[in-house]
Amino acid sequence: MISLATDRSLPRVPRLVGSLPGPRAQALIARDQAVTSPSYTRGYPLVVKRGEGCMLEDVDGNVFLDMTAGIAVTATGHAHPVVVKAIQDQAAALLHMSGTDFYYEPMVELAESLATHAPFPLPASGPRAKVFFSNSGAESNEGALKLARYYTKRQNIVAFLGAFHGRTFGAMSLTGSKAVQRQGFGPLVPGITHIPYGTHDSLDYLEQSLFPATFPPEEIAAIVVEPIQGEGGYIVPEDGFHARIREICDRYGILMVVDEVQAGMGRTGKLFAIEHWGVQPDIITMAKGIASGLPLGAILARPEIMTWPPGSHATTFGGNPVACAAANATMKLLEAGLIENAAQMGEILQAELSTLAHRFSCVSQPRGKGLMVAIDLLNGEGQLDRDLRDAIVDRAFYKGLLLLGCGKAAIRFCPPLVLDAAQIRIAIDILGELFGAL
Ligand SMILES: Cc1ncc(COP(=O)(O)O)c(C=O)c1O
Repeated sequence: MISLATDRSLPRVPRLVGSLPGPRAQALIARDQAVTSPSYTRGYPLVVKRGEGCMLEDVDGNVFLDMTAGIAVTATGHAHPVVVKAIQDQAAALLHMSGTDFYYEPMVELAESLATHAPFPLPASGPRAKVFFSNSGAESNEGALKLARYYTKRQNIVAFLGAFHGRTFGAMSLTGSKAVQRQGFGPLVPGITHIPYGTHDSLDYLEQSLFPATFPPEEIAAIVVEPIQGEGGYIVPEDGFHARIREICDRYGILMVVDEVQAGMGRTGKLFAIEHWGVQPDIITMAKGIASGLPLGAILARPEIMTWPPGSHATTFGGNPVACAAANATMKLLEAGLIENAAQMGEILQAELSTLAHRFSCVSQPRGKGLMVAIDLLNGEGQLDRDLRDAIVDRAFYKGLLLLGCGKAAIRFCPPLVLDAAQIRIAIDILGELFGAL
């Protein structure tokens, strides 16, 4: 049995040793601000030094409970010893050789493992999926867009309002989240239409208004959809939403592309979030949690779809051996219990947040699956309150709890999947204190 926990030299409760940010943090922030891009969206002044499991220590010795996992990335916890060992061993053996032009085992092993688990139909012979490795979520979506166009010989794409798929041109053009992410960067990739996310009304609009008037289905290459909308607010779609997209795609020869970048790799209590709905897509994109923190992305496609010829798509670094070794270790830890832990801890977290929602009128009922959970913050009239959300995320930092916002006024909880019930208790107590003080 692989140990799911990490060594514990950091305390398992927040420990604040001085006022925040401390002197070392202040000095580093000043240096950073002088030389890094102003497009970064830093909120509270966290300057991290090291991490273990769900705990992070800053440069001044303050210890925080991390409910962000570095934006839903460190699936196995910060610096899980099994992942670290796999990285160290692989780094000592081979750092890079480019899987685009040569072969090495960690990449083959990871592709086999992803292909075995892919929620695609099992063909009469051969694997369930073919895999292309990239370096990020955006690059995975960029590649999926190319593959969908290449395979269907069609140009148009349906995406969703509130969706986030990344920052490169194709991925940005699919993104429908915030104007600032697109403004000033046009012209974007043409042929992409956005419709509201998650409702049957929206799919009615697609079928009854767009298809006959402006967007004929025979010209659509793909519908690109997040299983649970991430940056858009951790929105769980209505029952039957994904099944209906599948059915529309089947009817018109459109590819269903599911972006599992944030929801995937066990976070929702299943390896792939789309498995919650029993729907089999044509293409899946992945990144974030796949390698517990090393940069890696993947495109999985049904074998009959990934038929692009040599040279049509490639990348120097994608499928780097060290990143693949980290991902192979991550897969083993997920299967050894972390996916199950995400499901169980997610239930406890939602139950505790639900209690907070009963106690405080500014808190909505929680939503989500597994450890992909959010609450909205509400004003006195019960409306979404972005300022309050920002204030609570900020104040939580000063109590030693790391949170992230998403959507209009949501706080998201996307901790490492090693989270335990005691840590949930700590987070809930801190939030209760903050809401009580309003
Ligand atoms: C669903 C989804 N897709 C794609 C991306 C982009 O990933 P990356 O930042 O690795 O390019 C993100 C990032 O937040 C995401 O949440």
